[in-house]
Amino acid sequence: MRKIALTTTAVAAVALMALAGCSSRADTETGTEGDGGFAADSLIGVALPDKTSENWVLAGGLFEDAIAEAGFKGEVQYAGQSTPVPDQQAQIDAMVTNGAKVIIIGAKDGGQLGAQVAAARESGAVVIAYDRILENTEDIDYYLAFNNFAVGQAQGQALLDGLEAKGDGPYNVELFAGSPDDPNAAVFFNGALDILQPKIDDGTLNIVSGQTEFEQVVTQGWAPEEAQSRADTLLQANYGSTELDGVLSPNDTLARAVITSVEQAGKPDIVITGQDSEAASIPLIMEGKQYMTIYKDTRRLVAAALDMVKALAAGDEPETNAEENNKTIEVPTFYLDPVTVTAENAAEVYADNPDLEPLTK
Ligand code: BGC
Repeated sequence: MRKIALTTTAVAAVALMALAGCSSRADTETGTEGDGGFAADSLIGVALPDKTSENWVLAGGLFEDAIAEAGFKGEVQYAGQSTPVPDQQAQIDAMVTNGAKVIIIGAKDGGQLGAQVAAARESGAVVIAYDRILENTEDIDYYLAFNNFAVGQAQGQALLDGLEAKGDGPYNVELFAGSPDDPNAAVFFNGALDILQPKIDDGTLNIVSGQTEFEQVVTQGWAPEEAQSRADTLLQANYGSTELDGVLSPNDTLARAVITSVEQAGKPDIVITGQDSEAASIPLIMEGKQYMTIYKDTRRLVAAALDMVKALAAGDEPETNAEENNKTIEVPTFYLDPVTVTAENAAEVYADNPDLEPLTK
């Protein structure tokens, strides 16, 4: 009799867990192996940062469509511009309360969501960091991005290639980086310096301002006004009668800001890098005003995120191909390869993208 009562309790507990929507991960962690997976109409939360570049603008709509197409319910939120960190914290809290089974996060500040992802994990949700890793937390299941270090290396290599094509060195160069609250910014910068540092050391590249440290070259909030004003200051202080040959810019938005600055200063003839294949930058690449960009097709990244969600729904382990350290744990990671784009290969690279390919004409 006692035995039966216990069994009934156990059955009730399992039923309760099912009602509470515990995921396979939570089941595994509590030691009660479940079937895994979750219902096809479950809620999938997507928390995106403020729209500092076109890739983020595109991601929201692509996520809504892809989630609906796969039959899940979606809750896609952006952080606002004035209070992005508290916005994102509140949005993720709400997704947990609403019972999201997976929460996909493109963080505004990857170091300030620890309490939210802990609560998400506690509720049984799976946490996927999208494009930007979440730092200093154990509560992250997967990371999905274009390989950021490779992006930086490609920018560094293209800067050298562009300068060499322009003429013999040494070359006068300035460095720009992204926002320090975005972990990607340092990774892009380190990737670029992996290629550029030997050339700085051997005198091929001369950083005239002397500003070579990440902290000296960052752009808070990825804000173009900041980059433009720093470029204005650098030009005024260091380039009166000196030619500026090249600029390392971490993305297209900031490249356009720097191009505005050098044009206003009457020194437009620079080799400058970018990233994101923004519609506004592609004509500049074709005209030779911006030397290169990186193609990180947002459609592919969102599709890869949905592949992860579908695998989790089926109770399977999502495919990964790398591990990334987030300053706390090694995070199972899926990296996509970024593609370098210059005027030479733009039409070919964008051939499958009806929004971008016409811009190369
Ligand atoms: C993304 C870049 C983007 C930047 C600014 C980074 O985290 O990886 O593609 O240019 O944020 O929005």
